[in-house]
Amino acid sequence: MAVTNKYIAIKNFINGVPKDSDFELKTESLSLSLEPVPSFLVIVKTLYLSIDPSQLNRMKEYSSSQKAISFATRINPGEVIDSIGVGRVVASNQTEFVKGFSGLTAYGGFFEVCKPKKGERVFVSTAAGSVGNLVGQYAKLSGCFVVGCTGTDQKVELLKEKLGFDDAFNYKKEPDLKLALKRYFPDGIDIYFDNVGGEMLEAVVENMNVQGRIAACGAISEYANTRNKKVSLSLIDIIYKRIIIQGFLTPDLMNMSEDFISATSAHICAGKIHVLEDVSFGLESVPTAFIGIFRGDNIGKKIVKISD
Ligand SMILES: NC(=O)c1ccc[n+]([C@@H]2O[C@H](COP(=O)([O-])OP(=O)(O)OC[C@H]3O[C@@H](n4cnc5c(N)ncnc54)[C@H](OP(=O)(O)O)[C@@H]3O)[C@@H](O)[C@H]2O)c1
Repeated sequence: MAVTNKYIAIKNFINGVPKDSDFELKTESLSLSLEPVPSFLVIVKTLYLSIDPSQLNRMKEYSSSQKAISFATRINPGEVIDSIGVGRVVASNQTEFVKGFSGLTAYGGFFEVCKPKKGERVFVSTAAGSVGNLVGQYAKLSGCFVVGCTGTDQKVELLKEKLGFDDAFNYKKEPDLKLALKRYFPDGIDIYFDNVGGEMLEAVVENMNVQGRIAACGAISEYANTRNKKVSLSLIDIIYKRIIIQGFLTPDLMNMSEDFISATSAHICAGKIHVLEDVSFGLESVPTAFIGIFRGDNIGKKIVKISD
């Protein structure tokens, strides 16, 4: 059976902030055989696509991330952009398949890397985003004091009123991030879950407590940074306060999948964790959805619904 497959590709490498003209919708013809399905094939109908900021590092001509792990390899202009998603298996001869969970980043990163203790003071950046909102909710459930930062007043309200953060602030309105953190954490920060890198990380290090832990999850402020300004961390703070900064990738945490699913599902069923999803519709909306996360348009997990 001949079918037409639609996909989004980049037209050129993207070395700054992504824009509409960097993307194109392409079509290709495929020959699919459902009866019998060749033994090496699984035919999947895509239902949802996950929109992830780190894909921008794959669209650059060069990024050191591209050689670090197989799912971060470079995407060349014209090629199909592979991504995490949800699909329905239409036909298969395979008995094994791979599952992926976005919330695992928040769960594993917080519990395994940050090792929280009740009463500790936790700071989360992009706190209304996909990973950040869950980190804050896990931290509250662990008995921590939690402050989040995000880029709009509407999201600040959501964090405080709906998700139960102890406090939240709009980092775009703060002229001095170091002073802002001193205001929200007069007794210092014990745990920082870092989704942004850059100037916020510099400010946090100065406000960390002795034996503080920083989970380096993402550095979105640096992905589209055309000025090439690099972080300048205070080594004096890191050494004398014995701060641990640990980078991690979600595949490192796959052994926590079962715990993550059972604990999180129970909390969701009990109404103790809110699920935040931000859905766009149709393959054509993928570029706009992707560009939007670098403007902070999304609230919660950004996904695109492709089909029913
Ligand atoms: N280590 C891993 O394996 C792993 C896995 C998944 C995700 N991550 C990383 O975790 C971070 C969050 O990912 P996510 O999927 O949850 O995305 P997200 O937070 O849902 O969306 C991105 C958010 O980042 C903020 N943002 C955009 N540009 C920014 C800038 N220049 N400076 C500061 N904030 C900016 C925006 O929110 P505001 O309104 O708050 O600005 C935007 O909504 C990313 O850095 C991502 O790469 C890492």
